[in-house]
Amino acid sequence: MIAARPDAATPSASRGETHSVAPPAAEEPLSPSTGTLDPDHWDDVRAQAHRMLDDMLDYLEHIRDRPVWQPIPDAVRARFRDELPRGPESLTAVYDEFTRSILPYSTGNTHPGFMGWVHGGGTAIGMLAEMLAAGLNANLGGRDHMPIEVERQVAEWVRRMFGFPAGSSGLFVTGTSMANLMAVLVARTAKLGKDARQVGIGERGARLRAYASVAVHGCVSQAMDIAGLGAGALRRIPVDTAHRIDVAALREAIIRDRRDELEPFLVVGSAGTVDVGAIDDLSALATACHEEGLWFHVDGAYGALAVLSPELAARVSGIEKADSVAFDFHKWGQVPYDAGFLIIRDGERHREAFAAPAAYLRRETRGLAAGSPWPCEYGPDLSRGFRALKTWFTLKTYGTERLGTVIAKSCMLARHLERRVQAEPRLELLAPAQLNIVCFRYRSEDADRINAAIVVDLHESGIAAPSTTVVDGHVAIRAAFVNHRTQERDVDALVEATLIFGERHSPQI
Ligand SMILES: Cc1ncc(COP(=O)(O)O)c(C=O)c1O
Repeated sequence: MIAARPDAATPSASRGETHSVAPPAAEEPLSPSTGTLDPDHWDDVRAQAHRMLDDMLDYLEHIRDRPVWQPIPDAVRARFRDELPRGPESLTAVYDEFTRSILPYSTGNTHPGFMGWVHGGGTAIGMLAEMLAAGLNANLGGRDHMPIEVERQVAEWVRRMFGFPAGSSGLFVTGTSMANLMAVLVARTAKLGKDARQVGIGERGARLRAYASVAVHGCVSQAMDIAGLGAGALRRIPVDTAHRIDVAALREAIIRDRRDELEPFLVVGSAGTVDVGAIDDLSALATACHEEGLWFHVDGAYGALAVLSPELAARVSGIEKADSVAFDFHKWGQVPYDAGFLIIRDGERHREAFAAPAAYLRRETRGLAAGSPWPCEYGPDLSRGFRALKTWFTLKTYGTERLGTVIAKSCMLARHLERRVQAEPRLELLAPAQLNIVCFRYRSEDADRINAAIVVDLHESGIAAPSTTVVDGHVAIRAAFVNHRTQERDVDALVEATLIFGERHSPQI
């Protein structure tokens, strides 16, 4: 019998306390006599803030006691079709609504049973750093202030992590989708020249071709589309039996396109494919790109941070020869969402693709308008939050060795699941666990339907949250171990629940 995990509605309730639903204080904290949005009574806000902080720490400490995920009741969803609030409401009441209606129904990726897609678990340290960043409310588009130095510090650490040369540039973005898009834009401008930014990509741009394996993440073809090159200009190269790009086929495709008077300009290698966690032969891709004069970009959304693990680093060898790498600190780096990053080997090329002088962004050599170049010259965002702070806190408080250990542990969990699947006749492995992802299924004559149903049941039971994908034409249960909280017992719970739900869905003979 599979018991759903208890519905733990509010963190305070799980502590047996009721303070988060206390009636509003006699003095409403947000009734300013000053005409500002600051409270008249800071002590009231302080007391409420301490409760909120305690609640969230409790939430993380006891996350295992909750369901991984639970469906949103209709009544709760309906509460969020409300009118625009015109008047004020007490902070206590709004927070109470948060604890009752939002917190229990979030994605669940903080939970050790979360194994879906590729989601990091976040940490209490990252949460605290987010609070500090919000307090400073810094805008990292530009100007001369310390938060930008923090971002520069992290960029320098990233440069060292990947063995990139001095003169490379890096910055935070939302996620790898954005970082991949920016890399395509930089490679495009590097190929067509800066004028293309003024006059458009023209006929020559229409002849540009990029290459990636059939297993590349969908955001790369989307990037080609958004960059005006067309999703169809991305050549999908077949993969070998280990789901890695077939480098010989890549070389043939490049020759063929050149023969057809097209212009190859970019190869995207994957360090951790989204389906099965395959890592392309990055060294071979670097060599091919070098010989063919092509930009070599690595989509390392989660896999790039394998460089932090001595056991795994060799798997991404060749990444140090890339022209650019996109990856997320919010995945294997465990930094709370969002914290994507793009590093470009040649910082000048990077700047040429985005810098756009404007009178209102005039630079000085002293004063707040000093500190050039500004981050806004390296990407499309002028307003930029302080993502660097939670990453800086994470890197400093844990250190890269500990983060590397967590990364290696998630690959060990994948091997544990692989062994359990191989030992269980009712289950079938659909792809070898290369990194941290295992694709398997419950054996059945109606396997596609049943495995999709099993995953929905797993979600609704609150026990585990894997996702699905299609491997070699078969619907697979896909478990991606990213969250640092996941343990072997969570993997075992996934296997046991899969067997029970599989049995339940199987036609009775
Ligand atoms: C290989 C790969 N590339 C790109 C992405 C997109 O990253 P993001 O969701 O941070 O935009 C993902 C997301 O899981 C991914 O696994």
